[in-house]
Amino acid sequence: MSTKARWLLAFQLFLAATIIQVHALTPPGFTNIDCGFVDGESYTDSTTNLTYVPDHEFVEGGTHHEVVPKLISGSTDEQEKTLRSFPDGQRNCYTIPSTSGKKYLIRTTFTYGNYDGLRSSENGSLFLFGLHIGVNFWTTVNLTKQDSSDTIWKEVLTVAPDEFIYVCLVNFGSGTPFISALELRQLDDPMYPFLNLFVSVSYFTRMRFGAVDDFITRYPTDLFDRFWEAAQCYSYPWLNLTTNQTVNKLPGNDNFQVPTLIVQKASTINSGFSWLNISITAGDNLNGQSLELLPIFHFAEIEKNRPNRTFQIYSDGNELHQAFSPSYLQVDSVYLRDRYLHESGTTFTLCKTNSSELPPLINAFEAYSLVRMENLTTDTIDVSSMKQVKTQYNVQRRSWNGDPCSPKEYTWEGVKCNYYDGKQNPRIILVNLSASRLSGWINPSFRNMSLEILDLSHNNLSGTIPYNQVNSLKSLNLSYNQLIGSVPDYLFKRYKAGKPKEHDDYDMYEEENPLHSDTRRFTYTELRTITNNFQSIIGNGGFGTVYHGILGNGEEVAVKVLRETSRALSKDFLPEVQTLSKVHHKNLVTFLGYCLNKKCLALVYDFMSRGNLQEVLRGGQDYSLSWEERLHIALDAAQGLEYLHESCTPAIVHRDVKTANILLDENLVAMISDFGLSRSYTPAHTHISTIAAGTVGYLDPEYHATFQLTVKADVYSFGIVLLEIITGQPSVLVDPEPVHLPNWVRQKIARGSIHDAVDSRLMHQYDATSVQSVIDLAMNCVGNVSIDRPSMTEIVIKLKECLLAGTGKKQLVSGSYKQKDAMDAGIARQFQLLISGVPIVSNECISGGITELSYYSGSSTVEQVGA
Ligand SMILES: *[C@@H]1O[C@H](CO)[C@@H](O)[C@H](O)[C@H]1NC(C)=O
Ligand SMILES: *[C@@H]1O[C@H](CO)[C@@H](O)[C@H](O)[C@H]1NC(C)=O
Ligand SMILES: *[C@@H]1O[C@H](CO)[C@@H](O)[C@H](O)[C@H]1NC(C)=O
Ligand SMILES: *[C@@H]1O[C@H](CO)[C@@H](O)[C@H](O)[C@H]1NC(C)=O
Ligand SMILES: *[C@@H]1O[C@H](CO)[C@@H](O)[C@H](O)[C@H]1NC(C)=O
Ligand SMILES: *[C@@H]1O[C@H](CO)[C@@H](O)[C@H](O)[C@H]1NC(C)=O
Ligand SMILES: *[C@@H]1O[C@H](CO)[C@@H](O)[C@H](O)[C@H]1NC(C)=O
Ligand SMILES: *[C@@H]1O[C@H](CO)[C@@H](O)[C@H](O)[C@H]1NC(C)=O
Ligand SMILES: *[C@@H]1O[C@H](CO)[C@@H](O)[C@H](O)[C@H]1NC(C)=O
Ligand SMILES: *[C@@H]1O[C@H](CO)[C@@H](O)[C@H](O)[C@H]1NC(C)=O
Ligand SMILES: *[C@@H]1O[C@H](CO)[C@@H](O)[C@H](O)[C@H]1NC(C)=O
Repeated sequence: MSTKARWLLAFQLFLAATIIQVHALTPPGFTNIDCGFVDGESYTDSTTNLTYVPDHEFVEGGTHHEVVPKLISGSTDEQEKTLRSFPDGQRNCYTIPSTSGKKYLIRTTFTYGNYDGLRSSENGSLFLFGLHIGVNFWTTVNLTKQDSSDTIWKEVLTVAPDEFIYVCLVNFGSGTPFISALELRQLDDPMYPFLNLFVSVSYFTRMRFGAVDDFITRYPTDLFDRFWEAAQCYSYPWLNLTTNQTVNKLPGNDNFQVPTLIVQKASTINSGFSWLNISITAGDNLNGQSLELLPIFHFAEIEKNRPNRTFQIYSDGNELHQAFSPSYLQVDSVYLRDRYLHESGTTFTLCKTNSSELPPLINAFEAYSLVRMENLTTDTIDVSSMKQVKTQYNVQRRSWNGDPCSPKEYTWEGVKCNYYDGKQNPRIILVNLSASRLSGWINPSFRNMSLEILDLSHNNLSGTIPYNQVNSLKSLNLSYNQLIGSVPDYLFKRYKAGKPKEHDDYDMYEEENPLHSDTRRFTYTELRTITNNFQSIIGNGGFGTVYHGILGNGEEVAVKVLRETSRALSKDFLPEVQTLSKVHHKNLVTFLGYCLNKKCLALVYDFMSRGNLQEVLRGGQDYSLSWEERLHIALDAAQGLEYLHESCTPAIVHRDVKTANILLDENLVAMISDFGLSRSYTPAHTHISTIAAGTVGYLDPEYHATFQLTVKADVYSFGIVLLEIITGQPSVLVDPEPVHLPNWVRQKIARGSIHDAVDSRLMHQYDATSVQSVIDLAMNCVGNVSIDRPSMTEIVIKLKECLLAGTGKKQLVSGSYKQKDAMDAGIARQFQLLISGVPIVSNECISGGITELSYYSGSSTVEQVGA
């Protein structure tokens, strides 16, 4: 094409484009960073038409450099011409905006290009550094004995844990870390279905087959800009296959979205042969020993006339997939599920079956290695608070980079964290900014953290000392500043309480198990006053004793004192306090505080004047709850559990649902209590608990058999509670042999009618249809197979239906019913929440019953990969 023609073409394009857009747009979800680029705001890459931006917005520190031009003279790759190196600091992180919970492909590229003139990659000494994705080790970049002009790229597929992703370079002491380019590509949700917050995968290889001219195929052919290398299968007996017809994905399968152009080509072998091999090995840039490999094969039959082709897939002689026939003009992807190959490299053999006419074919292949995301990021409140502190005071500490607490060895200087043994996100407990030239006001963000020690001494801080209700704070040093005003009362009290004897009262367990919640902490002395020297016992159990108490403001409380103040017991105690301080719902008992030291191990709750449901149900012949009251109690309890299961992330499994743990206030509003055994549960990581916990009569048989803890274990126990509510009988009764309540109910119904099963104290004052539906519901809950049990959301809906059906007429007559009002108010609030679009988030759980509106079916999707 002549120059003139090209100009013309460009002109025409421009005309057409003025109507729509001038440039090919960088797709949303793409971030293109040219590290070390300083000559402008951005540029358009000539190969991809993607817009690249400089990196200074995403990183602090480091110095920018240019590679030796001669070394990359042939390259069209603009990004490899500059780089940023990090001679200072152990860890240097890029912070890149992302959408929390979305999947991303992140690619980093490295071209040394002898930028520093030291020939470090060629002179024979070790030249390598590490990469972290977030707070987890990802991979090593090894440039030892590499050509200076070589480009190395590393990719990771990961789920963004937050509104930003950190990519960090870690100095191993063997050469200065550097980076040339950093690219983020958001993937579609269904893609790479094995990814989750705990599982990322690192690129091992990605190949396409057939007659391919480009060494690498990428964007825009691949909308996600994956790099597909051309497999060099060109010599005999390899053969190229190509089709001009559209090759579709399998209906509904968006797991890999291999571009059509790629699957329109394939490689096969001469029909005189029966198998083909694909070998992959870890080179110097992959630490072979510890790799856990995940291969993914993409197949589509593209030969005309739908030939007869079947083959098996082996990995080093072990069968990975049995006889497989590629679908005609449709992509089938074969990958291992929940299994990885523990080899540093392997040979995959595709082997023709005896009955197949043609030898195997292959269109594309990917292999990844597992990156376990085992380390947790610092609590988000602490992260955002520290960001504000850092910004306000312009703190210039090299280590104040990336996550504040994690991984442990890269904790920010002057910061101490509690790691909770890796069971929950770390929290910051100490900030020491002593003598750091801070000026201005005391940053209010400190208040949002759970600090125990804050040292801001020897600075230039001015203004007043803010009144911060920071319950956790034990030491605040503001000396040698320009602050005015008095020390807030509560701090002063704490100071006064800190005399040696009382100190003892506070400090037990603190070293090993410090607890950081905004919950009020009581001393033994305070509890003694509140309970009037532990006079009035209102309950007793295996755990200890519950006392009645009255706070200074007249509020009645229940003080649960654990029997043994032993270290062993404090193991269950801490999770309970942590859970309690996180959950807030009208049907969960209100937690007011705790005491934890040598003298006492106690929890303080709202006092529930009507005691527990078990006592009320067995209360004797003279008093009985009506059917409507029972339904309301069931609904309350169900809503409390629904909140734990559906509104908390991760879901909380109570593990000890029983009538004795359902408390009633003066208006008979039911609330769930006793979270001592509760555990967080993520569907992705089914919790395997080696000790079955709970109470005999309420134990889910499936959990008991498998120890696989899911929310459905609570549903089972709740089914027993429902049966107790209906029958007034205990979960295991003697009739005359011991019999489990569900069996007893079944027997009664089989022999007579449901009336024989219903609590005789109801004296037939109930609607039989309503009782029948609750019995049906209870029986569904106690089904042996957990997946067949309803979810708490479904139970709540059912119980509401029963209430409306059973009590509708009566309410017209009796007027307002206290609990009904409460429920309506709850519903009204949900709508407000929905309209304003801002659910009130309290800690990790959504407050209010909003889950009802965003209905969750609980079923998992069926993957459709494979033959
Ligand atoms: C980049 O844009 C130019 C002109 O707008 C166009 O000719 C070229 O095909 C585009 N390249 C790619 C890879 O999209
Ligand atoms: C190679 O280069 C590195 C870094 O520039 C330097 O520390 C090392 O001493 C050199 N080694 C040799 C053998 O020259
Ligand atoms: C997690 O953190 C620990 C301690 O800081 C560290 O030793 C370990 O390598 C980290 N794990 C990963 C996968 O990064
Ligand atoms: C397959 O395609 C490649 C790349 O286009 C080519 O070099 C090779 O000769 C082809 N092989 C055969 C057998 O045609
Ligand atoms: C694909 O189409 C081109 C031109 O339309 C034709 O030359 C070629 O033979 C076709 N290839 C196949 C495999 O059908
Ligand atoms: C890095 O590469 C060099 C040379 O290729 C090799 O000898 C060395 O074992 C590799 N180091 C690591 C940690 O992979
Ligand atoms: C292919 O792989 C199989 C199994 O690993 C091996 O026995 C065979 O020798 C390999 N063939 C070639 C040509 O590499
Ligand atoms: C396939 O044929 C080979 C050799 O004829 C025989 O050893 C093998 O058992 C056959 N496999 C099956 C599955 O029939
Ligand atoms: C393929 O061909 C073999 C032998 O010709 C025959 O036994 C087999 O049933 C055929 N399979 C299919 C799917 O047509
Ligand atoms: C804070 O750091 C300074 C030294 O930088 C030290 O003297 C002081 O004791 C530290 N404060 C606390 C509470 O650890
Ligand atoms: C503290 O948290 C509250 C919400 O809990 C938020 O509104 C406020 O902005 C936070 N303050 C700072 C300074 O981060």
